Order: sequence, then C-alpha cells, then structure tokens
Amino acid sequence: MTWAAENNLTVRRLAPSFAGEISDLDLSEEVLGRHAGAIRRAFLDNKVLVLRGQEIGPALFSAFGSLFGDPDPHHVIAMRHPEAPNLTILSNQDEPGRKPQAKYFGSGWHSDYSYKAAPAAATMLLAAEVPEEGGDTLFADMEAAFAELPEARQAELRRLRVRHQYRWSPDRSDPWARWTFLSESERAATPEVVHPLVRRHPATGNESLMIGPRVIGSVIGIEGMDEAQSDALIDDLMRHAVEERFIYRHRYRPWDVVVWDNRCTLHCATTDTLAADKVRRMLRITTRGQPPIAA
Ligand code: SIN
Repeated sequence: MTWAAENNLTVRRLAPSFAGEISDLDLSEEVLGRHAGAIRRAFLDNKVLVLRGQEIGPALFSAFGSLFGDPDPHHVIAMRHPEAPNLTILSNQDEPGRKPQAKYFGSGWHSDYSYKAAPAAATMLLAAEVPEEGGDTLFADMEAAFAELPEARQAELRRLRVRHQYRWSPDRSDPWARWTFLSESERAATPEVVHPLVRRHPATGNESLMIGPRVIGSVIGIEGMDEAQSDALIDDLMRHAVEERFIYRHRYRPWDVVVWDNRCTLHCATTDTLAADKVRRMLRITTRGQPPIAA
C-alpha cells in the first residue's frame, strides 16, 4: 500500500498495522530542515520508519536524531561511541573494552530503557556495515496487540503495574548476570522502577501494552501479584504480543536508517544467531522520553 503524507513524502507500508518506508529522500541538513514536520508525522503514523541508502556520517545522523528529541546516552559506558557519547556503537565483533555479551546486545524482545523512570522515546540505527543476510531486527506493534484483546481483558490490564529493572543477560540460566556485567555506578543508575502495563502515547493518545519477557528482559513482575500468577500473566501477554500478525521484520541493506517509537512498539535484535564472520556494525541514537502515562 502506498500513500502520501504531508509535504509530498511518499511512505510505503511494510506490515499490516505499522512500519513504513520513506522513498526518494536523501538526508542532508537542508532536507532535514524542509521535511522535519513531515518526517515526524510519518514516524508517529508508522511507529517504525525506514530510509534506504543514507550514506551519512555521525554528525548528520545526530542531526536526524534531533528531530525526535534530546539524546539519552546509554548507561553502559562501554557501549558509547568514544568520541561522540550520545551515539552508541553496536557491533557483533570483539571490541576493545567490551564484555563478550555486548556482541548480542538487544537480542530479546524489549522497549528501550523501559527500566528507567523516563523510558526512551525514539531509537534509530544507521547500518554502517551489515551482512547480506542475517542480523535482522524484529518489531512488534503494541497498539495493535492491545487493540486486539477483548474489552474486559483490556479493562483488567489497565489496572495493573509492572516492575522493571535493567538486568540484561544473554545467559538465560542466570537472569541475575547483570551484577557481573554492570559496574557499581551503572547498577546504581538503574534501580527498580514501576510502570503501567497499559500506557497512553503522549503524542497520539493511543493505548498500547508496555510489557516485555521476564528473566531475559527487564521485566521483574506484576506489582502486587504472587510470582506464579505474575509469571503466567507475563508469559501469556508476551505470547500474544509477538504473534506473527503484529510483527515487522527488517532485513538490512547497507546504510539503512531505521527509527522506531519505543512508546508503542517492542523490538528484538537477532545478533545472537548471526555467525561471527558476518560483520554487523550500527550507529545508534536513543532519545529521552517521559514517564509513561497510565491509560
Ligand atoms: C537495540 O535493541 O536497540 C538494537 C536492535 C538491533 O541491533 O537490531
């Protein structure tokens, strides 16, 4: 399906309920100035926005990022770009000063910084080096997932709150590996926080599920529920949230720019299944959001 947004931007829909590709736009300072409003509008309408073939440097990528808010640098210092700390470098290769786990960064469903009091608004990647095949990112539309639930179930979920804490680990048998991965100060910067299970988007007003997998994700449990009940509900919601009908799979080409709205989507890297000889390097920017609004 193709449709025109404001200012003659053409956006092609990539999945049934969300994700769009903007064609015919080569990023430059001048283009950003002229199309800023249309790009933001297309971002809110599509939740995931793809621009192909943008061979740009860190400065222009940062200018693109500023369309979506102020940068919020990653709290794991080793992930930051050494010269431009607002940028994160994602790499599936051994990099100086990084723990091996960093190669599989983001491989598990999550919404960026959901473990912070003010989770991320937008995140964007610039595909500096990608293999011909593999290293895709999966996205799931949390507004569609919520809208497809029966009304009585939606009403129950609106009353619940979820405990989050950063404890990412690729070791599924050791969910508390965060304590070995993070430094003292990085741990101190990520205390437990509580968010509504159903949030309202600050710009569109739409409701969406704010959930993630337990153990490997940042979700600890549902506030006030016993562990078994909470685990069962989270697992059930996650099964629903990532059903095929809510998913867009992005297959990268060199110099793709992909920007997504963390306030209404989940995403999942697949670098944990990418062969080590297939190099994947991305620049990443995340912008500061606000505390989630309960629906
Ligand atoms: C992320 O989780 O922010 C990165 C996703 C990816 O590398 O595909």
